[in-house]
Amino acid sequence: MCSTTTAADPSPPGPSLLERLGDRRLVVVTGKGGTGKSTVAAALGMAAAKRGKRTLLIETGGAHGLASLLGRRSARYRVLPVGEGLHLLSMNAHDALEDYVVRQLKLRSLYRLVFRNRFMGPFIDTVPGLPDIIQLGKVWDLAQEGSASQLHWDLLILDAPATGHGLTMLGSPASMMDVTRSGPFHANAKRIHRLLTDPAQTAIVLTTLPEPLPVNEALQLYQGLGPAREQVAGCVINQVHQPPFEPLDAWTAAAPALTRCEEPGWLEAVALTDHWVTTTRQQRASSLRLGQALGLPTLALPYRFQRQLEQQDLEALADSFAHQPLETP
Ligand SMILES: Nc1ncnc2c1ncn2[C@@H]1O[C@H](COP(=O)(O)OP(=O)(O)OP(=O)(O)O)[C@@H](O)[C@H]1O
Ligand SMILES: [Mg+2]
Repeated sequence: MCSTTTAADPSPPGPSLLERLGDRRLVVVTGKGGTGKSTVAAALGMAAAKRGKRTLLIETGGAHGLASLLGRRSARYRVLPVGEGLHLLSMNAHDALEDYVVRQLKLRSLYRLVFRNRFMGPFIDTVPGLPDIIQLGKVWDLAQEGSASQLHWDLLILDAPATGHGLTMLGSPASMMDVTRSGPFHANAKRIHRLLTDPAQTAIVLTTLPEPLPVNEALQLYQGLGPAREQVAGCVINQVHQPPFEPLDAWTAAAPALTRCEEPGWLEAVALTDHWVTTTRQQRASSLRLGQALGLPTLALPYRFQRQLEQQDLEALADSFAHQPLETP
């Protein structure tokens, strides 16, 4: 799916996704559920780590998609090494809150008394946006550790929740600022909001599949981002099938003649090829529609024929992030 430059096409190839992200400290990966957010986050992290960036992958809400993808049992709230220069933190709101309160108050027993009782525990989960902002507070904290003298993380990659919840999470600091108006909660929310909305520090990467419904949802998500749209570095179109041959139009002319032979094995092969050509055409139409409607760089990430993705698949996808030029509409 790499675009090539020919004598007739003098425009140089676009940057890779990794190059486009530049020196940003935080990358938020979001998209429809099941479109490959965790896979993209993991492979992007591998690509960045290979370039020498000390990278931390973060998953929230007790999710463990990243951990299982990287062959680790998700350890509660511990930074785990998952590769050379690559680490993983799986968190939930309760762990992040405990961390915060204990660091502020220096008294774990007090935290337990106040927050781990049967009233406060469920309360945290039911206040809209509260679990999100608590976890984003930890992300903010991790982003600060990189002082000039002691650079800790060059890059944080947040495997964010899917579309609707993803938008709520990104909007949670602003909601908290509206509710609080002043005081320490307000000040914290403001700091987090500043990090998330700063295009120099934070980029957003969208994920989708080359199919009509995921494309519609990606477009809705993009609209829903409001002013944060300018922070979208690109959209990864995941699970793109390689074409069986080029040009696909050759099949239209050849297929009728090929079905004249009635040998069952042959007909099966023709039917499979026909399905492959049809899928490729549909994927191309969806990708084109997405690219034109978004007006943003896209990256076609190849489909890996594996029941379960393994290290070598992630490395191949990481290679796409490091070297495959983004397609500009
Ligand atoms: N390029 C690819 N080729 C083949 N399979 C893929 C590819 N990308 C992702 N998958 C598979 O698709 C499934 C969904 O991927 P993934 O878990 O990354 O999506 P997600 O958006 O994080 O899902 P969720 O919303 O549940 O967190 C997984 O089984 C994964 O192995
Ligand atoms: Mg996931």
